[in-house]
Amino acid sequence: MDKISTLVIGCGDRATVYANEGCKELGAMRIDACVDPDVSKLELMQKEFGVPADNCFTSIEQALARGRFCDCIINGTMDDLHVPTTLPFLEQGYDVLLEKPVCNNEKDLLTLRDAAKQSGCRVFVCHVLRYSPFYRKVKELILSGEIGEVRHINTYEHVGVFLTSVSFVRGKWRSERECGSSLLLAKCSHDIDLICWLNSGAKPDTVFSTGGRDFITPENAPAGAGTRCLVDCPQSVRDKCIFDAQTMYLDNCLLPWYPWQCTGKDYREITYEEKVESLKTFNPHGQCAYKCGGDIVDHQTVSVRFDNGSYATHSVTLGSFRDGRDIFVAGTLGEIDGRVDEGKLTVRHYDRGTSWYNSRVIDVSADADNAGAHFGGDRGLVRDFVNTVAGGALSISASTIDDSVRGQLLVFRADESMKKGFPVKF
Ligand SMILES: NC(=O)c1ccc[n+]([C@@H]2O[C@H](COP(=O)([O-])OP(=O)(O)OC[C@H]3O[C@@H](n4cnc5c(N)ncnc54)[C@H](O)[C@@H]3O)[C@@H](O)[C@H]2O)c1
Repeated sequence: MDKISTLVIGCGDRATVYANEGCKELGAMRIDACVDPDVSKLELMQKEFGVPADNCFTSIEQALARGRFCDCIINGTMDDLHVPTTLPFLEQGYDVLLEKPVCNNEKDLLTLRDAAKQSGCRVFVCHVLRYSPFYRKVKELILSGEIGEVRHINTYEHVGVFLTSVSFVRGKWRSERECGSSLLLAKCSHDIDLICWLNSGAKPDTVFSTGGRDFITPENAPAGAGTRCLVDCPQSVRDKCIFDAQTMYLDNCLLPWYPWQCTGKDYREITYEEKVESLKTFNPHGQCAYKCGGDIVDHQTVSVRFDNGSYATHSVTLGSFRDGRDIFVAGTLGEIDGRVDEGKLTVRHYDRGTSWYNSRVIDVSADADNAGAHFGGDRGLVRDFVNTVAGGALSISASTIDDSVRGQLLVFRADESMKKGFPVKF
């Protein structure tokens, strides 16, 4: 197969992950052009993916002026830029791999859906978990009829302490006021999408949600805590604090590309002294996690009734100790449960011989597709996208724009319900 010629818009963390999967891991993609107002990102794209200097642009207008000269785009800009930076490329006939969430308001969501349909182009929204071997297996089991009709899907997302801090308390998604996305939209649009995809024969009917910012608050800061860990927080307090910036970012930085972004330096090049200085002064990751002004909820539960009488619930907790996701699917003939980070599913049926149950474990942890981030989802998504752009058929994981829109509307309705305090009709 010829390599798919690709234009990358927004060459940050996520877009480069997809470019890497497409070019280096799958060998199916070529990055021929890129757009980013940050020139250092364009230089990185030249170095990493051999993008010709003439095809590196600082604005989408410069790329649009060339007309359609690649097969597709990867759009990895931040949430509020997804729609304005995608619409003009759809008009030029580009297929699009678009980061989730599609956007952060309903008007833009429907505008993009209509534009995608009108253009006839494919818009793949990056609901990567669908493409992981674990969730694909759940979908296959449901489609096989082995557990009968779906009665209830229960999902739970545990957001570990590090990820909570680096993304949702001190990081880019800490404030709905600033970045426009709620916790449910930024983090759990994956889970709500999974629920809609796994229960795809049914339409959401009513949703009720509760949640709040109740635990990671100034009132719950450890007694005597300061405002910046390395500046005015006593060592005795920091020794007991799970969010201590020293241990979290300087000693064991799990996702090093996040906390140093604000310094403008590549995380592979920034020195220890520069890190310390940033945490002491301007870096939001140096602030007390309890007092740094974020406004998104730190826990939320969503309950959905579907039009065929089936149900789903989803819960998320920030500051969990073990990061990961659980799923339980109750069917009329059997049930499935498992944890994605263990890569194992248990399928159970009623046992007439004992009036108890029998079970079997399906282990997908050794699946070659499990490689890479999101339990293999990133690679699976790019493989499907490339295959579809090349004219191949959609896989069971593939998302049509209508599917993505439905899941995201459900996120908006759930947040509306949480804010109003009563159930909302879909
Ligand atoms: N699928 C997932 O699981 C997943 C995980 C994390 C983040 N995300 C989503 O991915 C998206 C990108 O997140 P990220 O962490 O990679 O962000 P990032 O900040 O690393 O990358 C965004 C890039 O867009 C560039 N940019 C800004 N304005 C632009 C413009 N007008 N035109 C072109 N480029 C522009 C920035 O300079 C930056 O390089 C977000 O929408 C985020 O919610 C998805």
